[in-house]
Amino acid sequence: MVNALKASGKLNAAGFHFPGHNRGRAAPYSLTEIIGLEPFIHDFNCFPEIGFQFSPQGPISEAQKLAAKLFGALETWFLVGGTTCGIQAAIMATCSPGDYLILPRNSHKSAISALVLSGAIPKYSIPQYNYDWDIASGLLPSQELEKEGQKAGGVFVTSPTYHGVCSKLSEISEVCHNHGIPLIVDEAHGAHFGFHPQLPYSALQQGADLVVQSTHKVLCSLTQSSMLHLSTKSNVDRERISRYLNLDSSSSFPNFPTRDPLRLTLGFWQLGLSGYQVNEILHNDLMVICELVGSRSMTFAFTLGTCREHIQRLVSAIQHVSSINFISLSGGGKLFVVDNEINDSVTGPLLGDIKMGLNPRDAFFSSKRKVSIEESLGKICGELICAYPPGIPLMFPSEIITHSVLDYLVRIAGRIREANFQYPSLSATVIDGASDPSLSSIVICDV
Ligand SMILES: Cc1ncc(COP(=O)(O)O)c(C=O)c1O
Repeated sequence: MVNALKASGKLNAAGFHFPGHNRGRAAPYSLTEIIGLEPFIHDFNCFPEIGFQFSPQGPISEAQKLAAKLFGALETWFLVGGTTCGIQAAIMATCSPGDYLILPRNSHKSAISALVLSGAIPKYSIPQYNYDWDIASGLLPSQELEKEGQKAGGVFVTSPTYHGVCSKLSEISEVCHNHGIPLIVDEAHGAHFGFHPQLPYSALQQGADLVVQSTHKVLCSLTQSSMLHLSTKSNVDRERISRYLNLDSSSSFPNFPTRDPLRLTLGFWQLGLSGYQVNEILHNDLMVICELVGSRSMTFAFTLGTCREHIQRLVSAIQHVSSINFISLSGGGKLFVVDNEINDSVTGPLLGDIKMGLNPRDAFFSSKRKVSIEESLGKICGELICAYPPGIPLMFPSEIITHSVLDYLVRIAGRIREANFQYPSLSATVIDGASDPSLSSIVICDV
């Protein structure tokens, strides 16, 4: 593919095709000033020299075959819509409307959008939860694979999680295959697995049928590029995957048994600090930037681009944080207070309190209205509400708003108000997805 791009870039062609910058001739200066002209010279769409993603020949197809060989797949598709697009295609290729999909309640929101697209009905599995770290652990292969006599269309597992926690995929795939059910793995954070003896085995090596990886996360590709792999042993219909992709594409934790050693999570709650407070010091004062901030911890990703000097800066920064007396004090002229609400932010119990009022597709298409947060009790949620910390969706469209979720939302709404009006520097909580980020009101299904 790279050779084909190089050759095409040198062609003295009179171009009358998209994209309109015409191999850089009309590239906007605001962009060339930053990234130069070269990326534009090699940016063209569906050119015979490059081939098409779904055609059996040409450089793209050859590159996909090489990737399949490298990752140990029967077939690999390159994705430019991220792992999100691959997860949607994998779920749509295995589940028809009305089929059950078994998936963890703390799945990435792309799995939820796939429920809406496919019409599959979720059967949520509840991950084990570590309350000290406020981090979900892996899944155990003990889930029932049938509901009311109906076999599940697929089992969906996220492994590793954002924090690098892995599930026992070889055991889960064995259970699934004994029942003739395909296993789909969201391996967005594990594209490097299987390439070094000290890294966990990859999902494909452990028997998963369909695996989606964000090549742009730990590996070094450009943002949004991902891969979907079909296992050599799978019975999933490759035509069905291709059809949906075509439709989808634009033309040392104690109870976390297996972890990615390249994902380092440091906990700060024993200092009385939230991950957000430590992030303020690390990011704003020392320019040490993590991948993920949680209520009680911060997570750092080590990649091929990580260098020794940066690791030394991280070590010094952590030494600095542990040496500050946080009860009264100052760090760089700022006042830090112990976050007494760290314990309130643990969301584990909420994951077990799920009642569905509609299936996700019907909820998505139903008419909606806005009610005040207090009025929403017992109603069916009509929007996805995700609170950071800790980044696990609290409510999906289709779920009934229970007492415990409502209490949690009211508490978070209070924290947001307090953060905005009193302690702007501690504004840790952010709401993603909700139409009213202050959470004074909520969209519900009007049924
Ligand atoms: C666990 C998980 N799955 C899927 C995704 C979606 O990946 P992408 O950004 O490649 O669409 C993410 C993104 O952060 C993720 O954390």
